[in-house]
Amino acid sequence: MGRIAYVNGRFVRQAEACVHIEDRGLQLADAVYEVWALFDGRLADAEGHFARLNRSLGELRIAEPMSRAALTVVIREAIRRNRVRDGLVYLQVSRGVAPRDHAFPKTPTPPGVIVTVKAVDRAAAEAKAAKGVGAVTTPENRWGRCDIKSVSLLPNVLARQQAAEAGAAEAWFVDDLGFVTEGAASNAWIVDADGRLRTRDTNANILRGITRFTLIDVIRDVGMVVDERPFTPADAYAAKEAFMTGAGALVTPIVSLDGRPIGDGVPGPVATRLRSLYIERAKATAI
Ligand code: PDD
Repeated sequence: MGRIAYVNGRFVRQAEACVHIEDRGLQLADAVYEVWALFDGRLADAEGHFARLNRSLGELRIAEPMSRAALTVVIREAIRRNRVRDGLVYLQVSRGVAPRDHAFPKTPTPPGVIVTVKAVDRAAAEAKAAKGVGAVTTPENRWGRCDIKSVSLLPNVLARQQAAEAGAAEAWFVDDLGFVTEGAASNAWIVDADGRLRTRDTNANILRGITRFTLIDVIRDVGMVVDERPFTPADAYAAKEAFMTGAGALVTPIVSLDGRPIGDGVPGPVATRLRSLYIERAKATAI
């Protein structure tokens, strides 16, 4: 069975799905997106992703395409039609179709909406996490509003390609102050040389990762402490452990940075435990 996509009010075979060539998402990257992990056909961290979607839309003054309830129905129907139990839901909302002009259309256009669903092989993902992945560092070169989940992702694309060419899975951006901001598609964490769990604070120019927020909750619930102090690549090289969080990665151990092993060069106990605690929480709260 081929995949089914939702595009502007209709469910269509994904292979035949299309958008207008003057959709502003296509021509100007004038669009936002969200990604939910799916566990047993249910949305993980649903509320957080919906709230961030509305915030991204609000910051860019793109109209909400439909109510939260209606969007939930559309997403559920997309999941059902694709018969996916474990996977990812991708939602994109553009400012809509209008003759190309950088400024907003003078007459408001209905937002363009796309939903796709893809299956993830959780056994393969577990095997990958059990081995850990590599990361590289790269200079931060994105705009100043990384808190908006915009589809304008060229720096992230190039950073991920740099990682891929180095045989790594993620790239960590390093800002002008020499601190790691986040990954190309995940938030960045270390267990530093003193054993402190560190990740960049959300006043910095980063995406406010939903997985990050849930994981902070999980960490506090088990009596551990998160230190939202910026860290440098040197801190990471000397760290006991490193990992990344995101709807795709969940919690994935990083075992090398720029080709240097982190800790023992294998997934550490903290990242391994946090991965299973996060998955347990995500499954228990998925809707
Ligand atoms: N990426 N930082 C960036 C730049 C991201 O693109 C993402 C997610 C995250 C983690 O956010 P969350 O925990 O809310 O997924 C952090 C998604 C998965 C993607 O682009 O596919």
